Amino acid sequence: PDPLTLALGMPKAELHVHIEGTLEPELAFALARRNGITLPYADEAALKAAYAFDSLQSFLDLYYACADVLRTREDFYDLMLAYLKRAAADKVIHVEVFFDPQTHTARGIPFTTVLEGLEDGLAEGLARYGISGRLILCFLRHLPEEECLATLAEVEPWLERIHGFGLDSSEKGHPPSKFVRLFARCRELGKPVVAHAGEEGPPAYITEALDLLGAQRIDHGVRAVEDEAVLARLVREGIPLTVCPLSNTRLCVFARMSEHTLPRLLAAGARVTLNSDDPAYFGGYLNDNIRAVQEAFHFDAATWYRLARNSFEASFAKATEKAGWI
Ligand code: HPA
Ligand code: ZN
Repeated sequence: PDPLTLALGMPKAELHVHIEGTLEPELAFALARRNGITLPYADEAALKAAYAFDSLQSFLDLYYACADVLRTREDFYDLMLAYLKRAAADKVIHVEVFFDPQTHTARGIPFTTVLEGLEDGLAEGLARYGISGRLILCFLRHLPEEECLATLAEVEPWLERIHGFGLDSSEKGHPPSKFVRLFARCRELGKPVVAHAGEEGPPAYITEALDLLGAQRIDHGVRAVEDEAVLARLVREGIPLTVCPLSNTRLCVFARMSEHTLPRLLAAGARVTLNSDDPAYFGGYLNDNIRAVQEAFHFDAATWYRLARNSFEASFAKATEKAGWI
């Protein structure tokens, strides 16, 4: 088979997907009806027409607005199971799913409603599709660190069920250095830490995420190529980058796929993985990202094997689990 067919059919791990970003317009309207909520769009077509973003913030405004339809444990279950069905179709066998509890608790949804619904979905996804899943709790960086510390204190009773911690939302103006105390506490609790950095923000934010937060993976990191020293360090230390190609083009980080830094990151020897980020909003799931990348760059089979292998190696799965996949 040709390299694309091989890549589409390879077992893979997905390490950068926001569960709120898997909310398809169809499900958004179904949940709005079920919960008696009126979305500020007439129908699914009108909502889809709003998916024309010019920046991360323009996307986040819509992403947070749509999340308002998520109210009950069943809603979070339906959301997770719909994502896992799509992931299974793309040969994803392990996922580390981001969720943003502050988006929900700020609306009065109890943290347990969110956590239990997502866990119900993961359990059913394991039973139906054989996908192993973990939850990574992301803090919203546009909020004050004090609020994030309060959120962390609130979720401590459920710590065993949270695999790790991350940092997402508006990057520019909210550098990792704003959250030193928060992530020190996360590490003190024995959890792995990841952070979005170098998506819209400068390479210096990648350095801060590593040095000040102790991030074990960098989410996006695609602007690392702008600073030779930062890129060399990522390579030397084998820091995984969870790259999301369709996200980057949809949010105008790059004007077109052919301008994406993915080939330069790979050529430098960075430990790159491919991911979908917010697939409902950015034009597709993991295999859609692979198709778009292959259309632009025509990678060979060895590169696709490497990317799939990287996804397992960079995961937070146990060494015994990894040994079964690689
Ligand atoms: N960047 C930052 N925050 C996010 C993203 C992203 O790509 N998706 C969902 N929240
Ligand atoms: Zn993301």
